[in-house]
Amino acid sequence: MDLLVIGSGMYVQGSTENDYGTIIPGILEAHKKNFINNVCFVSTKNKSSKQCVIKFLSLAKKLKIKLKKNSVKYFPGNGSSLYKLALTKFNPNSVIVATPDHTHFEICKNVILKNKHLLVVKPLVTSYKDAKKLIYYTRGKNRVFQVEFHKRFDEANLILKKFLNEKKLGILKYCTVEYSQKRIIPQKYFKNWSSKSNSFQYLGIHYVDLIYYLTGFVPTKVWAWQQSGYLKKRKINSCDCVQANIEWRKSNLRFNSYIITSWIDPNSSTATSDQKIHFVGDRSKYFSDQKNRGILSTEEGKDARHINPYFTNLFFSEDFYFGGYGIKSILNFFESINNKNKNFKVLNKTFIDSLVTTKVIEAVNQSIKYNGKMINI
Ligand SMILES: NC(=O)c1ccc[n+]([C@@H]2O[C@H](COP(=O)([O-])OP(=O)(O)OC[C@H]3O[C@@H](n4cnc5c(N)ncnc54)[C@H](O)[C@@H]3O)[C@@H](O)[C@H]2O)c1
Repeated sequence: MDLLVIGSGMYVQGSTENDYGTIIPGILEAHKKNFINNVCFVSTKNKSSKQCVIKFLSLAKKLKIKLKKNSVKYFPGNGSSLYKLALTKFNPNSVIVATPDHTHFEICKNVILKNKHLLVVKPLVTSYKDAKKLIYYTRGKNRVFQVEFHKRFDEANLILKKFLNEKKLGILKYCTVEYSQKRIIPQKYFKNWSSKSNSFQYLGIHYVDLIYYLTGFVPTKVWAWQQSGYLKKRKINSCDCVQANIEWRKSNLRFNSYIITSWIDPNSSTATSDQKIHFVGDRSKYFSDQKNRGILSTEEGKDARHINPYFTNLFFSEDFYFGGYGIKSILNFFESINNKNKNFKVLNKTFIDSLVTTKVIEAVNQSIKYNGKMINI
């Protein structure tokens, strides 16, 4: 399989906050399973596409992966339309899109119309109308189309899914989520596009997808509020924090989720992501601290760090290898393409489910605009 990666940012190759990203480590592990022949990186900047190749080759060496000569390359040039040329000239079978949220629609549309397998980082798009259009373009194409919602692969969430399935919590009453990240993300890494997003769209959407995946309830009403000031003072036109109250229903049952998001945590926080989920039913409760998983590293000369051993990590046993739910999520895409008895309805579920999650993004953005007004979905 020949793979084109569109986007060469933090999630693809890492940053000073994160040494490896998730996409390159995931592709390397897929390489070990012989899923991939050639890889090509393309982005808006020649320099960062080239950096991806350098990062890929050095990590391949660390993992003792033997690569064929010239099998990892970048598509040279700059600009936001360069990927179209790469799609034609490199002509891949599969594509990973890891570009800013607001660019997903146009890029995914072009990838789908060229009949490629597609994995796009979350959120698929930011409006229901666009999600519907993309799903329409995929009709009749026997291809894998997935959204990279890696929290569906986190064991802490899968235990909760089992408990819910076994009705251990009883009748669901409410669920709370707190999810925040360091201010360096909107201020530095996403500086070019943080004004086009907000903490709910970037972070909260993970848990909207997760709650839908865990419970099968559908969102029916939304109330949302925001606070701003910190980012606006620094010329980033986005709010600092968003709280959304979402009502979920299944037949005559109903529960509420309260999702609190922020992206102005101090940069000295002990992890990039601070995240907790709490489900409450009339029989029992389930609480998962998804930041403090019990590991605190205090290296000389560095800030203390909480390490999440379940997300993307470089591990070592006899040799180095990448593992965790970030990697599982990327591998799942390649395994789906290689699945001999493809049931596209199942394989492409994250894509179809975006019809639900994009409705919530839209409703939250609308409710914020009207200062907490109830929006029916
Ligand atoms: N950072 C994370 O931990 C994380 C986690 C999960 C998902 N995501 C999602 O991944 C996406 C990208 O995030 P990031 O952290 O890598 O952002 P980033 O700002 O670090 O990188 C964005 C990349 O996209 C490229 N790009 C923009 N427009 C393009 C175009 N038209 N054609 C080709 N390339 C283009 C840029 O050149 C850059 O390389 C976002 O949708 C984000 O929500 C990020």
